[in-house]
This record gives sequence, C-alpha cells and structure tokens, in this order.
Amino acid sequence: MRPTPNGLDSCTNCCPRPLLISAEKARALSQQHRCNFCHQANYAGQENVPRLAGQREDYLLKALRGYKDNSRRGYDAQMSEVVYPLKDEDFVDLAYFLARMK
Ligand code: HEC
Repeated sequence: MRPTPNGLDSCTNCCPRPLLISAEKARALSQQHRCNFCHQANYAGQENVPRLAGQREDYLLKALRGYKDNSRRGYDAQMSEVVYPLKDEDFVDLAYFLARMK
C-alpha cells in the first residue's frame, strides 16, 4: 500500500467508496472549521489543545457530541463554539477521519 500525501492510508482498492467520500468531506470540514488551526495541521495538538490524530473513533465522536449537547464541559468554551454549526453526521465523518490520522 502506497502512503498518500494526506497521511491517510491509500485504500482506494479496498475501501468501499462511501468511506473515501467521508474522509474527503471531513478534511474539507476540518479546514473550513479550522480544526487544523488549533489542533495543528497534523492534529497532534499543542499546549491546552488535545491530540486528535489516532484517538479512538468512538471517543472522538462522544467528545464532539458532548460539546454539542453540553454534557461535556471544556476548560473553555472554544469547542462549544466550534461544534455549534456542525451536524451529527459531520461529527461521524470527522471522528472517522481523525481516528485514522497518523
Ligand atoms: C479555537 C480553537 C479550536 C478549534 C478551531 C477546534 N478545537 Fe477542538 N479543542 C480545542 C480545545 C482548547 C480543546 C480542549 C477543550 C477542553 O478543555 O475540553 C479541544 C478539544 C477537542 C476534542 C476533545 C479531545 C480529547 O482528547 O478530549 C475534540 C474531539 C476536538 N477538539 C475536535 C475538534 C474538531 C473536529 C474541530 C473542527 C471541527 C476542532 N476541534 C476545532 C480547541 C479548538
């Protein structure tokens, strides 16, 4: 398997197409909502911003949903503002994408 420039494994031959589409959509979302700005381009985090890359998909999804419904309180309000315009299906795509980042 040949690594792709975006850091995701190249799985064009083995992944069902919808998964590839999710990853593309999530990448676009993460740029649009500047996830990569605070969490760094490689999602490794910095200072008070946690690492996202390679975390468990269900954990990431739970965290995002928690920020949205206020069941998870951050140390600051940054994430609540970020998730405000996002939909649940966006969280699913983002969690999928981030959990597979190296
Ligand atoms: C303005 C800066 C900022 C932006 C933009 C941002 N984040 Fe965050 N994120 C944070 C901070 C700060 C935390 C830690 C908050 C806390 O105290 O819980 C965090 C926490 C998280 C967590 C919880 C991680 C963990 O290990 O508990 C997830 C998941 C997450 N962010 C995903 C995202 C995604 C996806 C995006 C883009 C849609 C995004 N973030 C955009 C600053 C940001």
